[in-house]
Amino acid sequence: MRTIAVLNAKGGCGKTTIATSLASALAWEGHAVALADMDPQQSTSDWLSHRPEDYPALEGIASGTSARAPDGVDTLIIDTPAGLAGNELEQIIKRAQTVLVPVLPSPVDMRAAWRFLSHLQEIRAVRNRDTAVGLIANRVRPHTIVYRELTGFLDGFRVPVVGQLRDSMNYVRSFEKGLAVADLPPYLAWQDWEEWETVLAWIRSKPSQGKGASPGRLLAAAMQRLTRG
Ligand SMILES: Nc1ncnc2c1ncn2[C@@H]1O[C@H](COP(=O)(O)OP(=O)(O)O)[C@@H](O)[C@H]1O
Ligand SMILES: [Mg+2]
Repeated sequence: MRTIAVLNAKGGCGKTTIATSLASALAWEGHAVALADMDPQQSTSDWLSHRPEDYPALEGIASGTSARAPDGVDTLIIDTPAGLAGNELEQIIKRAQTVLVPVLPSPVDMRAAWRFLSHLQEIRAVRNRDTAVGLIANRVRPHTIVYRELTGFLDGFRVPVVGQLRDSMNYVRSFEKGLAVADLPPYLAWQDWEEWETVLAWIRSKPSQGKGASPGRLLAAAMQRLTRG
């Protein structure tokens, strides 16, 4: 099963928005998606409880670290609380093949993200590239040079910026109704769809899947043991 965790030590950077938007987008693609909500504030669970029946269904899991996804689910998305650290953070990262880190393009948030990324690099699964990390610049306003700033500030981390999402009321308005931008009609949300397509392309790509315990990798390891005798 593919596990994608949305993480950043800072609150308000868009973790819940990105977890729910990604869940909805992948469900539209035909994936069987479960959303785990580790945040005691339960925003993702609230969102799910408002989700209308005539949109692609998503499974909800009330808590994260050890909770198992129901049978048949092929993608698990974990929304996390601010301030996640230590063993809990490590467990989540070990479990996920992919980590998405939303960052707001403000100097304060970028400094906080820098600290968080330094911390991530100390975790073995990230260092070994078992878990892939991608940054999403969130709430980007037109005509900002955020991309260049972000990639500049990331020098030395080798963490890709895998997308940028504009600041849009579409996120705010749809959220209240249990919907996300993928659920909105194209005349309203085509720009957001285009931005998400970039993120989804990365999610589909090999480098985003880390080296986690994929069947292919297990098979390769078994073959190697066999041929070694
Ligand atoms: N791209 C965006 N455009 C507009 N508003 C956004 C966007 N991303 C997040 N928000 C808003 O910012 C606030 C914080 O986002 P949220 O996803 O709850 O952050 P977190 O889960 O990291 O605390 C929410 O009110 C949300 O609607
Ligand atoms: Mg949240």
